[in-house]
Amino acid sequence: MPRSAVSPAPRSAASAPAADGARGVWLQTFRRVRAETERRAAHLSAEDQIVQSMADASPTKWHRAHVTWFFEQFLLVPHDPAYKIFDERFPFLFNSYYVGAGPRHARPQRGLITRPNGEDVAGYRAHVDAAVERLITEVPAADAERVFTILEIGLHHEQQHQELLITDILHAFAQNPTDPVYDAQWQPPHAAQGPRGYVAVPAGIHAIGHEGTGFCFDNETPRHDELIPEVGIARHLVSNAEWLEFIAAGGYATASLWLSDGWALAQAEGWQAPGYWRQHDGAWYVMTLAGLKQVDPAEPVLHVSYYEAEAFARFAGKHLPSEAEWEVASRAGLLADAFGIAWQWTRSAYLPYPGYRAAEGALGEYNGKFMVSQMVLRGSSLATPEGHERVSYRNFFYPPARWQFTGLRLAEFV
Ligand SMILES: [Fe+2]
Repeated sequence: MPRSAVSPAPRSAASAPAADGARGVWLQTFRRVRAETERRAAHLSAEDQIVQSMADASPTKWHRAHVTWFFEQFLLVPHDPAYKIFDERFPFLFNSYYVGAGPRHARPQRGLITRPNGEDVAGYRAHVDAAVERLITEVPAADAERVFTILEIGLHHEQQHQELLITDILHAFAQNPTDPVYDAQWQPPHAAQGPRGYVAVPAGIHAIGHEGTGFCFDNETPRHDELIPEVGIARHLVSNAEWLEFIAAGGYATASLWLSDGWALAQAEGWQAPGYWRQHDGAWYVMTLAGLKQVDPAEPVLHVSYYEAEAFARFAGKHLPSEAEWEVASRAGLLADAFGIAWQWTRSAYLPYPGYRAAEGALGEYNGKFMVSQMVLRGSSLATPEGHERVSYRNFFYPPARWQFTGLRLAEFV
């Protein structure tokens, strides 16, 4: 795995020569990540950027402003005495869930905010960009390591929102009867070819979690030992063809395949197929970034919830891998399409690793306070920014979620 694309500098950036060397790299990296957000938003009109199609999804304009607030709140205000807040009303509007950073606007109502408008948000971004670039250039060497550490978190945070920007607008477009196109040139990544089947994960005690000096989120630590049983993991992701078999066999109508909560939700929501799938004249179509397309049987299934993934595994007489099994297999190079197509549900609850401690202060709210009632997904998706993926990366969502690019691979115990 490549090291993160936003980890260009060694952590020991505090000494003057290293700091001076790192400044130029951080400047370039900051500009590149900020530009990627704007590149993704540029496919969207001002109207597109306001809409919020459900409480879990945020408007594009909000994403652009929130990642900017993150730098203002956690980098500029504490570390730049000369920094002037762009607009005193913005922290309330663009704080997401950081209770320690002050009160905030209700998440389900983000789509009601037509003002500040897109131009105001562009001005906010430019104001913060200039201040961050000044700080990178001028921060005293003695403070550089702390500043660059927070800058790095902010950049990875912005990359996470780059993915959410895409998944959230796709959800909005999927509610639109005209099937809007995000990017007519967009092509789905193709699944790896080669023999399917299961690969044996080396049984025994294996270390999992982040290692090395590159960036990671705190939830990937501490690195620790896990006992891996005799288990095989599917080399490939579950395909649409396999999912069509599940549908044809009555998978969505067979209660015995489902967890109780999943069955209740599937009934209440009328689930008959993965998210964004629609049937016309006997053929299945799916809403994609390039608009409505016929489902390609050869491609991996996307937009399935944990409940559906678990039901499919039971239907297939298999299981979902644990996150430790997934990581050991991935580190051993055993998995095709581990990254870049679909986040893969695991059977692991999102819990702290042994000895995990969240950081002090509001930034400690980033991951730790969500470690209940969610499931871990591994890998990365087609919407994950280049270089953001890691073998130890722990994504997490609630079991009903299916607006992300979520799929699965199976495991079997022999
Ligand atoms: Fe955020």
